[in-house]
Amino acid sequence: MELQGKRIVLGVTGGIAAYKAAELVRLLGKQGAEVQVAMTEGATHFVTTTTFQALSGKPVFTDQWDARMPNAMAHIDLSRQADLILVAPASADFMARIANGLAGDLLATMVLARECPLLVAPAMNLQMWENPATQRNVTQLLADGVHLLGPASGEQACGEVGAGRMLEPEEILEEVLAFLSPKLLAGKSVLITAGPTFEAIDPVRGITNLSSGRMGYAVARAARQAGAKVTLVSGPVGFCSPQGVDRISVRSALEMYAAVMARAAESDIFIGVAAVADYRVANAAEHKLKKDTGGIPPIELVENPDILAEVAALKDGPFCVGFAAESRNLEEYAQTKRRKKNIPLIAGNLIQDGFGGDDNRLVLFDETGNYPLAPASKSVLARQLIEHIATLTGEN
Ligand code: C5P
Repeated sequence: MELQGKRIVLGVTGGIAAYKAAELVRLLGKQGAEVQVAMTEGATHFVTTTTFQALSGKPVFTDQWDARMPNAMAHIDLSRQADLILVAPASADFMARIANGLAGDLLATMVLARECPLLVAPAMNLQMWENPATQRNVTQLLADGVHLLGPASGEQACGEVGAGRMLEPEEILEEVLAFLSPKLLAGKSVLITAGPTFEAIDPVRGITNLSSGRMGYAVARAARQAGAKVTLVSGPVGFCSPQGVDRISVRSALEMYAAVMARAAESDIFIGVAAVADYRVANAAEHKLKKDTGGIPPIELVENPDILAEVAALKDGPFCVGFAAESRNLEEYAQTKRRKKNIPLIAGNLIQDGFGGDDNRLVLFDETGNYPLAPASKSVLARQLIEHIATLTGEN
């Protein structure tokens, strides 16, 4: 419920991507937002008001002469109540109109009468997007403080491929969440490791740790929402990159070590969330080991570098944060680990509380003591971790 208590006016304009706005209403509502849909006349040719009314649980407004508003001032009332106006999809025509301050229909009038931020997700054909007139309008909207979400590149409904496609509803939700988050780490660069590492025994077998990567990805997302430039060095996991995050995919601990060390010095904050294998196979086979070629193959292990400890040892290195997943004695083990690795902050969790799932229970340990966080989803906990980091680094 990351949008609990937020009032969002969703403006839908005439374009085929209007059907995706239906999903957007659902996603915003799922996060606790109260969504008021306003449609242009053009939008109603693509999706009916009934669809949006059913999904938002509110009557949809299309007409500035709507008799339902007792004072006949729907444009003022609806836009004044909003925390933000989001127009998705925004057609070329609608962007041209608001860039010029035109107020010929209810939605454009609401945009002109607003006191809240305006986010616009363009959706149009490649040529329309690239047309100098549209680009001129984009420049004007940016100069007016309007926030543009996208557009993305890709295959378009018209069959052409290029820029102009509306961001997917999940991506728009992500941008809205980022927009509304306090920018606690603005201007900071944050390097994060996540997921397990995989240490090859032969081309098809290996040693790994159990780690879904969810916590590390949630931390990357929260840091990005807090305004940081985020680089995520990720072991093999089954997720897409979080939006706006630069992901470097690695497999082994040595690859993760190399990727981190190449970037650590220029980072302000390093957060090691990865479950790095402590050992790798010294005698990994070039070809697949065969069962019937005499005896059990001997596997020799050598120790992997401790990435977090090495980053912490850098002169003028980043502010370092570790994770400690323990099965018992959480406080003792986590604090000992924190001191041993010489890091200012470690987040501890009991393996039985959070492994693989969406929720977790974290305790933050720093020099001043222990800060247990209430059990919550990994995204909520990640945000609280970012807040604690911002406090300790003096950014908050
Ligand atoms: O020593 P231990 O593995 O329990 O410490 C966990 C913390 O150290 C985590 O933050 C993990 O990402 C980091 N770590 C690391 N490199 C290793 C082992 C652990 O960065 N080789």
